[in-house]
Amino acid sequence: MFMVLKLLLCLCLVGLSYAKSEAEIRNYFIGIALECNKETPISAEDMMTLHQHKIPDNETAKCLLACVFRKAKWMDAKGMFDVDAVHGFLEKEHFDDATKQESSKKLIEICKKVNEETVSDGEKGCQRGALLTMCLTENAPKVGLNLVV
Ligand SMILES: *[C@@H]1O[C@H](CO)[C@@H](O)[C@H](O)[C@H]1NC(C)=O
Repeated sequence: MFMVLKLLLCLCLVGLSYAKSEAEIRNYFIGIALECNKETPISAEDMMTLHQHKIPDNETAKCLLACVFRKAKWMDAKGMFDVDAVHGFLEKEHFDDATKQESSKKLIEICKKVNEETVSDGEKGCQRGALLTMCLTENAPKVGLNLVV
């Protein structure tokens, strides 16, 4: 459970975990990560790598990321980052802090470029899931979002 929590925090669904729905959002992602880790167990080492905001060089670990994004509906059936869905998520799930809301939108704008990358696993989305995670974690601080660790 602790490891899953760590993984979750490190996926860092970036700055989405604060304000009044903090607990709800966190629980939501914990639930997803738990389910995904059952279907797609990854090694403790890869978990630690993820925790350090790095992407493990292991296809299974990348597929775990894809699983989380899929279940959160941030990734569509074709393995693409679903920008509209994430905007919808942000509108619906909270952000009583307008500045962070704006930052999140900026982050999405930056990271939608992952859909232009060529990946070799296509609709599986594991590679794009990894690219998206990298983009989110690299750019969150630049738009003023703190990673929740
Ligand atoms: C990736 O991680 C999984 C789960 O720990 C492991 O079974 C698999 O052998 C790893 N693959 C490679 C190529 O290291």
